[in-house]
Amino acid sequence: MHSTRTSRDEVPMHFFSIALIVLQLILLQIFSASSAHSCTVQEKHYLLQFLDGLSQDGGLATSWRNGTDCCKWEGVTCNRGGVIIEVSLASRGLEGCISPYLAGLTSLLRVNLSHNSFSGGLPLELVYSSSIIVLDVSFSRLNGVLHELPSSVTSARPLQVLNISSNQLTAEFPSSTWNVMRNLVVLNASNNSFTGCIPPSLCLSPSLAILDLCYNQLSGSVPAALGNCSNLKVLKVGNNKLSGTLLAELFHATSLEHLSFPNDGLQGELDGENIVKLSNLVTLDLGGNKFSGKIPGTIGQLKRLEELYLGSNNMSGELPSTLSNCTNLIIIDLMINNISGDLGRVNFSTLHSLKHLDLMRNNFSGMVPESIYSCRNLIALRLSLNHVHGEISPRIGNLHLSYLSLARNPFTNIMKAFHVFKSFRNITTLILAQNFMNEAMPQDETIYSFQNLQYINMADSSLTGNLPVWLSKLRNLKILRLSNNRLSGPMPAWINCLNSLFYLDLSNNSFTGKIPITLMEISVLTSDKTSTYLDPGHLELPVFRGNLSRQYHVLTAFPKFLNLSTNNFTGVIPPEVGQLKVLSQVDFSCNRLYGDIPPSICNLTKLEVLDLSDNYLTGEIPATLGNLYFLSAFNISNNDLEGPVPTGGQLSTFPQSSFDGNPKLCGAMLIHHCSSVGTDPVCVISTKQHSNRIIFFIAYGLFFGVGVLYDRLVFYRYFG
Ligand SMILES: *[C@@H]1O[C@H](CO)[C@@H](O)[C@H](O)[C@H]1NC(C)=O
Ligand SMILES: *[C@@H]1O[C@H](CO)[C@@H](O)[C@H](O)[C@H]1NC(C)=O
Ligand SMILES: *[C@@H]1O[C@H](CO)[C@@H](O)[C@H](O)[C@H]1NC(C)=O
Ligand SMILES: *[C@@H]1O[C@H](CO)[C@@H](O)[C@H](O)[C@H]1NC(C)=O
Ligand SMILES: *[C@@H]1O[C@H](CO)[C@@H](O)[C@H](O)[C@H]1NC(C)=O
Ligand SMILES: *[C@@H]1O[C@H](CO)[C@@H](O)[C@H](O)[C@H]1NC(C)=O
Ligand SMILES: *[C@@H]1O[C@H](CO)[C@@H](O)[C@H](O)[C@H]1NC(C)=O
Ligand SMILES: *[C@@H]1O[C@H](CO)[C@@H](O)[C@H](O)[C@H]1NC(C)=O
Ligand SMILES: *[C@@H]1O[C@H](CO)[C@@H](O)[C@H](O)[C@H]1NC(C)=O
Ligand SMILES: *[C@@H]1O[C@H](CO)[C@@H](O)[C@H](O)[C@H]1NC(C)=O
Ligand SMILES: *[C@@H]1O[C@H](CO)[C@@H](O)[C@H](O)[C@H]1NC(C)=O
Ligand SMILES: *[C@@H]1O[C@H](CO)[C@@H](O)[C@H](O)[C@H]1NC(C)=O
Repeated sequence: MHSTRTSRDEVPMHFFSIALIVLQLILLQIFSASSAHSCTVQEKHYLLQFLDGLSQDGGLATSWRNGTDCCKWEGVTCNRGGVIIEVSLASRGLEGCISPYLAGLTSLLRVNLSHNSFSGGLPLELVYSSSIIVLDVSFSRLNGVLHELPSSVTSARPLQVLNISSNQLTAEFPSSTWNVMRNLVVLNASNNSFTGCIPPSLCLSPSLAILDLCYNQLSGSVPAALGNCSNLKVLKVGNNKLSGTLLAELFHATSLEHLSFPNDGLQGELDGENIVKLSNLVTLDLGGNKFSGKIPGTIGQLKRLEELYLGSNNMSGELPSTLSNCTNLIIIDLMINNISGDLGRVNFSTLHSLKHLDLMRNNFSGMVPESIYSCRNLIALRLSLNHVHGEISPRIGNLHLSYLSLARNPFTNIMKAFHVFKSFRNITTLILAQNFMNEAMPQDETIYSFQNLQYINMADSSLTGNLPVWLSKLRNLKILRLSNNRLSGPMPAWINCLNSLFYLDLSNNSFTGKIPITLMEISVLTSDKTSTYLDPGHLELPVFRGNLSRQYHVLTAFPKFLNLSTNNFTGVIPPEVGQLKVLSQVDFSCNRLYGDIPPSICNLTKLEVLDLSDNYLTGEIPATLGNLYFLSAFNISNNDLEGPVPTGGQLSTFPQSSFDGNPKLCGAMLIHHCSSVGTDPVCVISTKQHSNRIIFFIAYGLFFGVGVLYDRLVFYRYFG
């Protein structure tokens, strides 16, 4: 076709030659469609063998019939000469084996069998075929081993694109195979279970541009030979079990745009002299390793850098001020390191594209630099667990933040902060826990602008005052965390205005009065259809829980939770509590609740944790509670309940400590057994109130494992 380009630069001739090409293409189409040439008997044979290997052919057999021209079969493409060049059967619902006979088609160039449900392995014949240039068998449930090519195969193979990603291939990743793959451009073997090492021979293909081996079980170090891949643009080997350092040789691969080794177990320091050689770098992802030392100042010379992930390492020292030279940065993730110094060292005002800045859990000090407020595109800012202090600057209101976390810093002046936050119309996640210590909860009714707020955490701050009315306007609020403050007064009846709320933690405050019946009307908690209509609440940055070991990417992954524990709530537990069908955890412990345990609790069929301990509850335990089959932690200790513990259901699986401190209670697991006539003198069990709760925690731990026990003991702290 190039021969038809007769012209040089004259525009009319250009037009002419393009028209000629188009004409040729049309002719080619007509030709191939009405081709007199049909495929050979031999080719037909191979295709029918392939069909034969399938246990589920997705309806292929209706078009793949022996008597017809196989160039017209579904998914088969021939060239002008009636020779098969492509088999394209992606997403056909095919099951069974991939027959090696397919490789008998000696002119086949492209094979696409992705998104099917095969079993068995990938026939090697397809990999070392002397014609195939594109082989895509990704997402096809292949399992088994990918063997090395036979040693008889010695000449260079034409394969350019090999996509075997997202299968279940296991065992050693081939290494000598790549010696003959001299034309390879793309190799994607990610998301399998390959073991072994990264093969050093991959770069024998001078054109290798994309290498993705992430999400496997590869071990060993990153071979220096990868530095010989002079055309390598994308190198992704994250989420394996590598060790060692990034050798200087690797940085000879100067075409690299995307270098990514997250969660791999690598270590060492980032050498400034090396990193600067990768001047084309757009993404650098080394998060979740054991890298230490400083972030080199030369990073400022990586002008194209857009994404910098160094989170969850052991980096220290100060942030290099040259970072402000990386003016294309969109994401900076340095969380969970030991980087120190005044944040103001970096002039953020040049980072016009910055969207995410995550500095969580480092050693930063000083005030939030004003230059951050010039980053007009910033939507997620996380400074939690540092030593950043001062007041919230009014300028932060200029940002269109969706996620702000300042948790565990000594910020002051909550009143001023909320007057600034008022302008956050797009904020969905606001995490302020352990700040503004001992200040008063802002009550200003003009705070009503957080129309999109879905998560607010103001826990652990010893705040005083009542539940503010502005909360009632947060119609999209899903999670409200106010535990460990000194809030007082009654729970207001407007609580049911929060019709998206499924996680309410008011524990360890000084709330008084009755539990309002309106609480039992919160629509998201009463609806059967919660999971279908509730939007998942995607988070710009994941929210961490407990000891930073768990993270949530969507809010709906949180448990459906109602915790009023350790307050001064009084009155009866409203029987309407049975309407909150969605709840999985209920904790009303350590209050002054009296009356019966409402039998309607048996309607909370998803309940996993129920704690009513340390109240003044009386009457018998409703027998229907035994039907709560998901219940794995249960505590009604230290009340004044009486009669037998219901037998035969879930309740008889709990230890004595769940029932302790109810002298009038009897049951097989208690010291006080139920007598047949029931006129025994009341046997008073001597228990210490506080050790009881610890026993409950231990019992809970036995059910959920030590990890959860730990979380429980740290009062369900969630950090963002
Ligand atoms: C297809 O037809 C040819 C002759 O028409 C015959 O030799 C061959 O066995 C047939 N193949 C199958 C799989 O039926
Ligand atoms: C194979 O087909 C799937 C589905 O149509 C497509 O997404 C994929 O890009 C194709 N593979 C190649 C290498 O073109
Ligand atoms: C497999 O990888 C190739 C090369 O990157 C790509 O073109 C193709 O779309 C991928 N296949 C699927 C199903 O994503
Ligand atoms: C490799 O394939 C996976 C899907 O299996 C895809 O998510 C990933 O983006 C691909 N890698 C590259 C570099 O294209
Ligand atoms: C990994 O592969 C599985 C199928 O084996 C697939 O369901 C999943 O989406 C893949 N993950 C990625 C990130 O591509
Ligand atoms: C990398 O290339 C250099 C020369 O280009 C060669 O000497 C060296 O052996 C190669 N390294 C590996 C491990 O292939
Ligand atoms: C973290 O880095 C410091 C100094 O940079 C070093 O002393 C310490 O051993 C490192 N810790 C780990 C766990 O690698
Ligand atoms: C990089 O940043 C430093 C300090 O911030 C500055 O002095 C220098 O001029 C910048 N260099 C370039 C090339 O922009
Ligand atoms: C963090 O760095 C400081 C010095 O800036 C050092 O005193 C401290 O021990 C380091 N902490 C950890 C956990 O490495
Ligand atoms: C809210 O976000 C949208 C885009 O998501 C943006 O256009 C708008 O300016 C933002 N508004 C405010 C007040 O932040
Ligand atoms: C509950 O009220 C009593 C007396 O009114 C008080 O001593 C106690 O500290 C209060 N408890 C809480 C958790 O506020
Ligand atoms: C449980 O709910 C059903 C239907 O909402 C209701 O009829 C029944 O009375 C409730 N059970 C109890 C014990 O309240």
